[in-house]
Amino acid sequence: MTKKFNPLFEDKEFNEAILKEVQKIKLVFPDLIDRSEDFSFWTSYKVVFDEEFQLDMNTHETVEYFIRDPKILTLILRQNYEYLDNFTVKDVVTGERTDRPMPKELYDILFPPRVWMSDNINESIHMYNAAKNAKGNVLVGGLGLGIYPQYIFALNRPVDSITIVDSDKDIVDIIGKLMLDSFPDRKINIVHDSIENFMQNTSEKFDTVHFDTWGDLNFKFLFYINYLISLADKITTENGSILAWGYKHMYEDFLASCKLIRDKPDTWERFYLQDNEVMMKFIEKLKKEEKLTEKEYEEYANDMILNTVDPKQIPLTMSFSSSNAINQRINF
Ligand SMILES: C[S@@+](CC[C@H](N)C(=O)[O-])C[C@H]1O[C@@H](n2cnc3c(N)ncnc32)[C@H](O)[C@@H]1O
Repeated sequence: MTKKFNPLFEDKEFNEAILKEVQKIKLVFPDLIDRSEDFSFWTSYKVVFDEEFQLDMNTHETVEYFIRDPKILTLILRQNYEYLDNFTVKDVVTGERTDRPMPKELYDILFPPRVWMSDNINESIHMYNAAKNAKGNVLVGGLGLGIYPQYIFALNRPVDSITIVDSDKDIVDIIGKLMLDSFPDRKINIVHDSIENFMQNTSEKFDTVHFDTWGDLNFKFLFYINYLISLADKITTENGSILAWGYKHMYEDFLASCKLIRDKPDTWERFYLQDNEVMMKFIEKLKKEEKLTEKEYEEYANDMILNTVDPKQIPLTMSFSSSNAINQRINF
């Protein structure tokens, strides 16, 4: 793995000073976007008087704190599944079946919308910690709500330009425009493209590259993230740095998971591994090699997770994601 990327960078650092600072910085967010407008997402707002920061995403160890002034959380919601456009209606008299477009209201009842993004305290702290490292020409994979670039500006980081690439046209049009309008004095390029494609075709070099394009902190994304890092390596200056949202957490969680399942061969088959090639690869190794010591297995897991590169995009699905979930399965 490239030296420009530190897998142990802690973007979850949390203390009183960071919390105060994050609360002080006011970010801009989009006005109401209604579900009825045909965008890929819509907005919702929630007033909160306290929030929980998850110190550990898997053990669910949290710190709760109360805020003096109520905070308005901005939530970006999106439809849960893309593929279900029609539903079949049966006429009870004639028995005739017809396909009808699914009304959004019904769709949302059957498949409750997902919160895609928000400025909750967890998201804010991650982005704030990552932004503290930005310098020079910055490349961002995934605009989202634009929290990361806004922290870069608020922290007055020594940044010359910021190029933000997003594959969602509506995010580019709506949030991209919001960024350009809100920070007219900053050099911001908003690009509608996939970050993979952009990195393969650009001739520019960047001093900082920040990725946040995967849906949650599940270690099954790590081979794909390694692929993004390998592409970034080629377009980053020699002293540049690459950051990936939550990498340390997923990396450590994978190693903890390996430890848990290594000693329990009878549990391997219980996991749904269809979309989790990361864990599948480790289990294949366990199945093959019986004479490795604990330390050798640890080294294998560590080397494998940091150095396996796979361009395949991984969908967000409900599969086990964490050492905590594995622990629960094992002890079930
Ligand atoms: C969770 S959001 C990022 C939030 C962002 N870090 C912030 O500060 O608000 C993820 C974004 O990545 C975009 N995205 C997902 N896959 C992508 C890809 N392969 N290339 C470019 N953008 C992608 C999504 O459209 C979405 O806007």
